[in-house]
Amino acid sequence: SSMESLSLSPPVSPSVILTQDELKKIAAFKAVEFVESGMVLGLGTGSTAKHAVDRIGELLLQGKLKNIIGIPTSKKTQEQALSLGIPLSDLDSHPTIDIAIDGADEVDPHLNLVKGRGGSLLREKMVEGACKKFVCIVDESKLVKYLGGSGLAMPVEVVPFCWKFTANKLQNLFQHSGCVANLRNDCKGEPFVTDNGNYIVDLYLKKDMEDLQVASDAISRIAGVVEHGMFLDMATTVIIAGELGITIKNK
Ligand code: 5RP
Repeated sequence: SSMESLSLSPPVSPSVILTQDELKKIAAFKAVEFVESGMVLGLGTGSTAKHAVDRIGELLLQGKLKNIIGIPTSKKTQEQALSLGIPLSDLDSHPTIDIAIDGADEVDPHLNLVKGRGGSLLREKMVEGACKKFVCIVDESKLVKYLGGSGLAMPVEVVPFCWKFTANKLQNLFQHSGCVANLRNDCKGEPFVTDNGNYIVDLYLKKDMEDLQVASDAISRIAGVVEHGMFLDMATTVIIAGELGITIKNK
């Protein structure tokens, strides 16, 4: 297909302006080139990962990939994979995954990530923490100088029980960075509920967190916190699709 040749022969002509979704698709298709028959695959969540799952389904159907087992990172991805006929399993049965492919909201120069704007960060972190290779796929708009630098949310999954108490603890933790903590709502104005029955508190940070590991540990120590969206030192490869071509960064 034309997408295949695009992904294989960057840079594209500068006169062709690609949409963000086309860039996501190029990164996703490139990542699927790492997939081989017989592999156990972590299947990511979001509009970028969706392209990768579609591509895996397509290659299975064409018989170019065989004996794949997918481990989905959300109910949404599970549904998509089932509709494509991708055989599925879980971490209980497959505690070691060969390759996970997933998007991200932010990527810093050290390949640390912010994930979870789609709300699937807990299952993503469990699955991507269990894989030998985690290929993160993004368009170039996701690149930041430091985590939080996009000005968009840093998501934290919290238990619904007294979520305001937990949100206040989170906000106080980053008070020096002018942090604001907001409960995420769904389209009906009700609290957004994750696949695990929890809420999401979105943190807006006005400054660099500086020591990410210290920040990560401090968030995790709050009792009402289930997991947070900082994925430190987890991506082994990041594939970045931009108007001038594909860049692959390895850990
Ligand atoms: C969901 C995620 C997604 O990977 C992240 O939000 C990127 O989404 P998209 O590919 O739609 O930009 O972490 O929890």
